[in-house]
Amino acid sequence: MTLSRFPLRRSFIASAAALVAALGATATVHAGEVEVLHWWTSGGEAKAASALKATLQAKGHTWKDFAVAGGGGDSAMTVLKSRVVSGNAPAAAQIKGPSLQEWAREGVLANMDDVANAEKWDSLLPKVVSDVMKYKGNYIAAPVNVHRVNWLWANPAVFQKAGTKVPTTWDEFFTAAEALKKAGVIPVAHGGQNWQDFTTFEAVALGVGGVDFYKKALIQLDQTALTSATMEKVLSTFKRVKDYTDRNAPGRDWNLATAMVIKGEAGMQIMGDWAKGEFLAAGKVPGKDFVCAAAPDTGKAFTFNVDSFALFKLKNEANVRAQKDLASAIMSTEFQELFNLNKGSIPVRLGMKMDKFDDCAKLSSNDFVATSKSGGLVPSIAHGMAVSSAAEGAIKDAVSAFWNSDKMTAKEAVAKIAAAAKTK
Ligand code: GAL
Repeated sequence: MTLSRFPLRRSFIASAAALVAALGATATVHAGEVEVLHWWTSGGEAKAASALKATLQAKGHTWKDFAVAGGGGDSAMTVLKSRVVSGNAPAAAQIKGPSLQEWAREGVLANMDDVANAEKWDSLLPKVVSDVMKYKGNYIAAPVNVHRVNWLWANPAVFQKAGTKVPTTWDEFFTAAEALKKAGVIPVAHGGQNWQDFTTFEAVALGVGGVDFYKKALIQLDQTALTSATMEKVLSTFKRVKDYTDRNAPGRDWNLATAMVIKGEAGMQIMGDWAKGEFLAAGKVPGKDFVCAAAPDTGKAFTFNVDSFALFKLKNEANVRAQKDLASAIMSTEFQELFNLNKGSIPVRLGMKMDKFDDCAKLSSNDFVATSKSGGLVPSIAHGMAVSSAAEGAIKDAVSAFWNSDKMTAKEAVAKIAAAAKTK
């Protein structure tokens, strides 16, 4: 396998080398070890994770990879809990949203204020993000990116063959799905895992219910919204999507679903923009080989999912220094650019140049700013941004129980989900 057959890979290696050179100047003499827990094991994710590894190694530290496979991170969180309970926390772990506060309350996270203050993180991050990275006013985590979750990924050649267009509304979605089915392709690539069902559900809730409904039902967990006729409509629409998935969907990993779109076996996938990392890792060109579009009826909204690393309290001094270097490197412009070019997300650090990013990322970046002003910017419930992990888990299970049942009606699902939302 020669590198020249893989231009993207070569440019990645060149960029990683440049990153190493840029950061090398600050290499420390107090080398330590940093153990990092993450779930980035798919093609695009692994490339992005190696940017983090290169960043750390450039500072002279040792990277101890603690990867726990499983999209959405459910398995990783289970493993992390048992490690922390046994007093053996890693230096950093991929933890997001309200869960950061839950971990901080346990007293296991380190205070990163010296790094954050020296580097002025308050002025480099949107307030909506920096608030989540702090516990009682102190930084306990470092953010890496902003993923947009409400995307639809499509294979334009497949759509052309089926004589239909990439949908912008739910009505168009079902028209397109019918046409794709008639053309003999799987209309919707889906992986039947709870978090993927939930990702589709939240896109439908946002599109069918609108931003205000989404906020009331899925952020405030307002019982009136959760038991409304709108919720029932959301659930029936959600269940209709299942008719256009294939028999082998149950249990399938999300990146294998993306691969079906890449290969033209399926027409489209509803998934966050980590899916773009897979298209890019496969050498595909946005706008030509694949199309990104806001999930139906959600063009004026943005469900955000910010990946971040929580920093755990450590005893060894060299490792503490390495951990601080990790936090600092994560927020560097070099890292934010290289990591996000591979991950499919956009930098979380403000004021970054977007010239190396593709049109999907530019659209995401513009929409992030526009929706933060219009009120259309909302946290993703399916990706740990909106509610407590207990409520999220219970609602997620109820949504999948409905998706997987042949008998449950939308009305019954409404009651089940509303009850789950009371979980503390
Ligand atoms: C999300 C995470 C992304 C991506 C995805 C699939 O929850 O924020 O970074 O990894 O899961 O694994």
